[in-house]
Amino acid sequence: MSPENQAIAGQVSATKSVSWLDQEWPWWPLLPLYPYGQRRTLVRELIPNQIWSFEQLQGLYYVAVPVRLTVVKVPGGLMLFNPLPPTPELRRALSELEAKHGQVVTIVLPTASGLEHKLSLPAMTRAFPKAEVWICPGQWSFPISLPSSFLGIPMGRTKVLQEDGFPHADSCTWLPLGPLNLGLGNFQEIACFHRASGAVLVTDAIVGIEAEPPALFDIDPTPLLFHARDRGDQALEDSPQARRRGWARVVLFATYLKPGPLEIPPLLEVLRNAFRPGTLSPRAHFGLFPFEWQPGWEAAAQERLGEKRPLLQVAPVLERLVMPRAKDVLLEWLEQMRRLKGVSWLVSAHFSDLVAFKPHQIRSFSESISKRSWATNDGSWSFLGSVDKSLLNLGVVPKDPQAAFKD
Ligand SMILES: [Fe+2]
Repeated sequence: MSPENQAIAGQVSATKSVSWLDQEWPWWPLLPLYPYGQRRTLVRELIPNQIWSFEQLQGLYYVAVPVRLTVVKVPGGLMLFNPLPPTPELRRALSELEAKHGQVVTIVLPTASGLEHKLSLPAMTRAFPKAEVWICPGQWSFPISLPSSFLGIPMGRTKVLQEDGFPHADSCTWLPLGPLNLGLGNFQEIACFHRASGAVLVTDAIVGIEAEPPALFDIDPTPLLFHARDRGDQALEDSPQARRRGWARVVLFATYLKPGPLEIPPLLEVLRNAFRPGTLSPRAHFGLFPFEWQPGWEAAAQERLGEKRPLLQVAPVLERLVMPRAKDVLLEWLEQMRRLKGVSWLVSAHFSDLVAFKPHQIRSFSESISKRSWATNDGSWSFLGSVDKSLLNLGVVPKDPQAAFKD
C-alpha cells in the first residue's frame, strides 16, 4: 500500500487470533484453490465510514493473489460488491460494520465470468436472507450452461443489472464494460461509481499492482517464500527480500500464466531436487518445484509492478485473452470514468486495495494504452498470444467480440 493510502486506510479487524474453525470454507471443492478450506480474511477501512476491503487469498500451486469483497455504505445500510466465502470470521467482521452503519441491504455480483467471484454468491445470499441480490447479465457456467436458479442464486429476490435497472441509483453510477463474446460465454463486468467516496469499484478489468507484497501475506507468507526459491531443494526462508522476490514471480504467473523468462525443467531434474532434507513437508510440496527462472525475469516483473505506488494496468491475461480485439471498448469505458464528477479512487477485486484514480491519472492511463502496441505476441506475451491464436483458428473465439450484440 502506498504511503498516501496508508494514511486513509485503517484496519478494523485483526485476524491473527482467530481459530481455524472461524476461517472454514466448506464449499472449497467447487473451486479447489489454495488455501482450500481455510480462508483468512483481512479487513481494512479504505475510505473512512464509506468503503471497506475484505480480502482473502486464493490461488493455484501457491500462485495466490488477494480476492476482494468491497463493502460500501449506501443509504439504508451496506452494499456488498463482489462476494467472498462468508466464513464465520468474515461474517463477524461484517456484523461489526452492520452494528455501526446498518444492515447489508444489497449484494452485487458485477461480473458474468469471474468464477472466483460468483461461486460464493449462493452462500453469501443465504448469510443475508433479507438482502436484495443483483447479478451481472449473461451469467454462464462451464461446461454446461445452467440457469441461475441451478447455480443456487435465489431468483425470488434477485434482479439483473441493466435489465432491471441498477441498485442505489441515487448514490451510485453504474458503468458496463461489454458484453464481449468469448465463444464459450460472455465477458462483462459492471463498474460502480460511489459518489460519496469518489471510488470506482471494478472487478477484474483494471487493477493496480505494487512491488511490496500485499499485507494479506503477513498472515501467511508461504506462497511468496515458496516461489522466492530457485530450486526445490532449497528450504523456505523468510525475509523481506524473499517476500518481494516471491511476490514479483507470483505477479508474473498471475498476469501472464506462463511468463517468458520461465522454463519448465525436465521431470528427472525436478525429482532429483525433491525429497531432500529441509523440504520434506507438504508446505514445501516435498521439494517438488517445476520452475526454472531465466535471466531477465526481474525486468519482466518490473513492467507489472509499481515501486512506490500501485501501477495501474490491464492484466496481460485480460488484455490478450479477453480484450485483444476490444481496445476501443475499454478506452470508451475509461473515458466514461474520467468524466465522472469527483472520481478519485479505484478499488478492484484483486491486488492493491486503493489506487489513485483522478481524471488526469485516468487520462494518462488511457493515453498509454492508445500509444503502445495492444495485445502483442512479444516476450512474456508469447504464451497468451499462442492461446488466443489457437482459439481463433479453431473458431472457438470470434474475430469481432461485439458482433453478436450488434443490431
Ligand atoms: Fe477475478
